[in-house]
Amino acid sequence: MSALLLVNATLVNEGRVVETDVLIRGDRIERVGAGAVPAGAEVVDLAGKHLLPGIIDDQVHCREPGLTHKATLATESLAAICGGVTSFLEMPNTTPPTTDRAALAEKRRIAAATCHVNYGFYLGATNTNLEEIRRVGSADACGIKVFMGASTGNMLVDDPATLEGIFREARLPVATHCEDSPMIWEAERRARERWGEAVPISEHPHIRSAEACYKSSALAVGLARRHGTRLHVLHLSTERELELFDKGPIASKRVTAEVCVHHLWFEESSYADLGTRIKCNPAIKSAGDRAALRRAVLTDTIDVIATDHAPHTLAEKARGYFEAPSGLPLVQHSLLMLLEQHREGLFSLEKIVEKAAHNPATLFGIVERGFVREGYFADLVAVDLQASTRVDAAQILYKCGWSPFEGTEFHSRIALTVLNGKVVCRDGEPVGSRAARALEFKTD
Ligand code: DOR
Repeated sequence: MSALLLVNATLVNEGRVVETDVLIRGDRIERVGAGAVPAGAEVVDLAGKHLLPGIIDDQVHCREPGLTHKATLATESLAAICGGVTSFLEMPNTTPPTTDRAALAEKRRIAAATCHVNYGFYLGATNTNLEEIRRVGSADACGIKVFMGASTGNMLVDDPATLEGIFREARLPVATHCEDSPMIWEAERRARERWGEAVPISEHPHIRSAEACYKSSALAVGLARRHGTRLHVLHLSTERELELFDKGPIASKRVTAEVCVHHLWFEESSYADLGTRIKCNPAIKSAGDRAALRRAVLTDTIDVIATDHAPHTLAEKARGYFEAPSGLPLVQHSLLMLLEQHREGLFSLEKIVEKAAHNPATLFGIVERGFVREGYFADLVAVDLQASTRVDAAQILYKCGWSPFEGTEFHSRIALTVLNGKVVCRDGEPVGSRAARALEFKTD
């Protein structure tokens, strides 16, 4: 069995930062700590670099099947490994939507042949597929995605009896997109009255308002508390929603919250430069909301940091306010964004690892990943906080070919990504063959 020995690493794991070596045998971590060099081992010197468990992104959109002019599982997962992401959970708003076990099986078939990161898929809820939700188990999906607000794709679940049924009967974690659609439709109507079709993008956080987020998140949390559901509210974007969630370690919670890197990075004034490129749902809101979200990561009110990686072509994004689709590509740069915020003093490395690797693994019951532990799968990323990364067209691996960070210089670099014991990316560039696997979940 092949052996890979990572020496002189500064390991960030489980709340500690220690100088150590990590020995990998086959696809597993055999030893964390100094020891003999096995005969024939490949030795990689990580002096001066930090070694982290690979990032687990619990919210990405890869558009396959059906919307492959925007992205594919192959293209986005290659971008992911080059960004230090070793596992992702993919969303159901594809064409056709992933709303039954046959559609899940088709995604797994495509991923087994083409995907570069470890993968899991959500079953999408609809107003009419409660029977399927009852049946789906952890061998089929990572969770149930419920669009409690309408967004990209036509997957709004707004029938009260269906929502009750989902929260009562789902056997897997329920992950929700929370924005109240009737409030948004009314705000859109008022905006049209004032501006016609030429609504300025700066109105987006007022149309997709904080009130619409609160109303829907409060409904989801209320349903979950009543039924004892394992609920994960995705992409919180406002200060007010935070009052719905408890502080504390993830192990003690049945209701958890996620924030996305773009809501931690951008704020309302960013629309002036980036326009519809950063149009997303829920909208990027005020600087005060961003500050509160950052604090909530530190107080453990927010449990998980992810991306909601949502690629669209530049031509699509260049349309007017109503026609430009929501979402932005992020998965190649999310760890660099967090490391930049570490440099600015916002987050410790231990906190980044907790929210972007440990907690998603715990929440979704991902088997033997998300931590650097002996016997666990060897999914690791080494980062260099002394080097930098300039984002330009040549560096971007997304099929859509653009990033909101073009022209940005991040003050860190993804040095090495190890996936299932294999080096799959060196110095931000993909190397060698695919090593991805289907994730296993232990939740039901
Ligand atoms: O901005 C978003 N884009 N929010 C979503 O909920 C969906 C996503 C997409 O699929 O484009």
